[in-house]
Amino acid sequence: EALEKGGYDHFMLKEIYEQARSIRDCLRGRIYPSLGKIQLGGLEEYSSKLKNVDRIIIVACGTSWHAGLVGEYLIEEYGRVPVEVEYASEFRYRNPIITEKDIVIAISQSGETADTMAALELAKERGATIFGICNVVGASIPRITDAGVYTHAGPEIGVASTKAFTAQVTVLTLIAFYIAQQRGTLSQSRLIEYLTELNEIPNLVDRTLQCNEHVESIAARFKDSNNCLFLGRGSSFPVALEGALKLKEISYIHAEGYPAAEMKHGPIALIDADLPVVFIATKNASYEKVVSNIQEVKARGGHVIAIVTEGDTQVRDMAEYVIEIPQTDDAFVPLLATIPLQFLAYHIAVMRGCNVDQPRNLAKSVTVE
Ligand code: AGP
Repeated sequence: EALEKGGYDHFMLKEIYEQARSIRDCLRGRIYPSLGKIQLGGLEEYSSKLKNVDRIIIVACGTSWHAGLVGEYLIEEYGRVPVEVEYASEFRYRNPIITEKDIVIAISQSGETADTMAALELAKERGATIFGICNVVGASIPRITDAGVYTHAGPEIGVASTKAFTAQVTVLTLIAFYIAQQRGTLSQSRLIEYLTELNEIPNLVDRTLQCNEHVESIAARFKDSNNCLFLGRGSSFPVALEGALKLKEISYIHAEGYPAAEMKHGPIALIDADLPVVFIATKNASYEKVVSNIQEVKARGGHVIAIVTEGDTQVRDMAEYVIEIPQTDDAFVPLLATIPLQFLAYHIAVMRGCNVDQPRNLAKSVTVE
């Protein structure tokens, strides 16, 4: 087992570090930046369906559902197709309205999650075209789908999903730009720019991974907390959800993810001198609004940990701790901002003596309802 962990103390840490490679593998042979072209062999047969689709429904559970929420932002923003993201377990029991015109995409690392599988079967029965985004080749979900895209993240052993999540987000990014290419919602020159930046993401992930030691020192400060709040806006909202899920599943600290603007509709009541609040506060259109949310937390004595864009000075002056991530287009921020949150959960769990790779009560793949 020590050999399989490749010198790391835990599979989770190894898998966090594998993300530059796994994202590179996921992009390989699929993007041609200088041509502004994306090729997704698995979806080719359905390219005209994607061109004319009126609605996409994404079904998933847990971390894969969070990836789906990032996908919603990306597909709506760049492909201009309405997207609904559903918990598979709710969708399948709700008598959902599905038509033959819909594309239903299941996201699942294992490809075996019972609820996701059942949601897909229901969609198929009702005539939708069904796609899969899976990691495990030949698993049950890829076997029943009409088409799909593998994430190529390699085996994920840690129960807490890390590299599978960023690979899912990478695939959804590819699908968003693929749809944009089919529908002509982005000019060729914009596509070239986006794909050129996307091609750089594995290198930026490598740089982001250098925050490990800094995040470890922050973890030491907050390891005894009982609660933690994660806040973000736009596509950083699902990143906040994912940060909270990582922390709660491996460290057993109660954590919540919220859209930053929702804070004043309830969670603000929780803020006191014992509550760490993690903000994703990168430079984008809603930056100033997030800055004012940070001020609201500070004014109530909360502890602010902020993930910021390299070189940021405004938030640095306000937050107790900042973690810098490299500058990139807003489209790709989830791929970088997730990494410090994975490290934070990992180190806090290790410091609390938790079983990081196999947290209590959890299974790697949930094959029961
Ligand atoms: C992730 O850290 C969790 N262990 C869990 O939420 C997981 O993402 C969920 O069970 C879905 O699994 P799947 O991707 O294999 O379908």
